[in-house]
Amino acid sequence: MNRRTWIKLGGMGVTSFLLPTQSVDFLFSKKTIPTKLSAQAFGKDFLWGAACAAYQVEGAWNKDGKGPSIWDEFTHKKNKIHKGENGDVATEFYKNYKADIALLKEMNFGVFRFSISWSRIFPSGTGKINQKGVEFYHKVIDECINNDIEPWITLYHWDLPQALQQEGGWANRKIISWFNEYVAFCTKTFGSKVKNWMVMNEPAAFVGLGYMLGYHAPGIKNPFKFLKATHHVCIAMADGGRIIRQNVADANVGSTFSCSHIEPYTDDPILSYKDVAAAKRMDALLNRLYIEPSLGMGYPIDSLPALKRIERYYEPGDEERLKFNFDFIGLQNYFRVVARKSMFVPFLKAKQISAEERNVPMNEMKFEVYPEGIYKVIKQFSKYDIKNIIITENGVCYEDVLLGNRIHDSKRIEFFETYLEQVLKAKNEGAPVNGYFVWSLTDNFEWSEGYEPRFGLIHVDFRTQKRTIKDSGYWFKDFLRIE
Ligand code: NOJ
Repeated sequence: MNRRTWIKLGGMGVTSFLLPTQSVDFLFSKKTIPTKLSAQAFGKDFLWGAACAAYQVEGAWNKDGKGPSIWDEFTHKKNKIHKGENGDVATEFYKNYKADIALLKEMNFGVFRFSISWSRIFPSGTGKINQKGVEFYHKVIDECINNDIEPWITLYHWDLPQALQQEGGWANRKIISWFNEYVAFCTKTFGSKVKNWMVMNEPAAFVGLGYMLGYHAPGIKNPFKFLKATHHVCIAMADGGRIIRQNVADANVGSTFSCSHIEPYTDDPILSYKDVAAAKRMDALLNRLYIEPSLGMGYPIDSLPALKRIERYYEPGDEERLKFNFDFIGLQNYFRVVARKSMFVPFLKAKQISAEERNVPMNEMKFEVYPEGIYKVIKQFSKYDIKNIIITENGVCYEDVLLGNRIHDSKRIEFFETYLEQVLKAKNEGAPVNGYFVWSLTDNFEWSEGYEPRFGLIHVDFRTQKRTIKDSGYWFKDFLRIE
């Protein structure tokens, strides 16, 4: 059995191991889980979608004039990705987009969230446009519209043009103007057809894993570059929002944030204050760092004093420039974080106690399955002055076994039932949550974990590219059926 190390951003240096191959007994059970929820309970305007990201699905990494991205570069290096896999081919969404959109429609979803690959449009990051790349996204958008599916576009889902990384990437302040050029082009080009835009995807993940822990592209481990990149990302996110609003009539502008319910490990009344403080620092880093500047609250330096150094990178006017009044905030929830004080972790002085150590239910990537967590993060973010919350990603990876033509993924169905129950609970208590997008439409390339974790509602045989809707996909089809 293949065991390997997975170090989560929340772990900040804590190592845990992936699950041993899970028992597949449950797959043979005839039991079907009764549907307790109804989509109607969420209201008729609630949005139901499924999501994906360019690098994880498109393939065609060097076709039709596309330039290399940092993920092409990173995955082509040795020992970066599980089994040496890469996104060169992925699910060939570049070729198969029509079939995938048809399957999305078959499952009764009304929204498709996908991202644009910056280097497919600007092969060198700025300047010369690749017309074939532009045509591709027009085709994807048109296919959605012709099928009554609303396209929701993410502008940056982690695949920076490699040419810009050579200039320092997000750690170089010039990236703000490079990014602005890209956003301006995309919104002017596609803005008459697409109204829903997300500027960035999970900055805490791509900056933390890419510039601090080095597990993701570009593979840098440098706290100063991490802070610089953080500041530039936050400005670019707000600038990006302004550009969208300027170029797209009736735009719905958002950005997405990874978020986890965080709690201290120790209940002990004498010892707990240290873990309570550790949980607070973790919360500042993982949940608050990227959203609070846009809300005009600045960086959460009070809760995590090690962030103070970020002020060195300020230029006049930055304080104002960091603010942007998003129309919606995308929340993406995958696990709970249980925090403990640790003097061995630089900067944060806190570590995560893994799901495995706590012996709680986990998915294939050792993320804790904890439905109440989504309720708690929705409540936490509802305390901010936010107009609209959309769950732009939520989902789970389990080992899926193809039996004939079916995949009986009853654990995934149970996951959606229990998480959706919690989303509804938050909504019924007044949280402004108005949409839920499944991660992911199809199985795909899961970054440093390669193709092993399968998050899709649609199974992909990566040798033949054959798609098979899983039972969870049929569950959604039924759940979203319009009577
Ligand atoms: C969040 C990221 O946006 C997505 O790209 C990734 O595949 C999922 N988390 C699952 O890890």
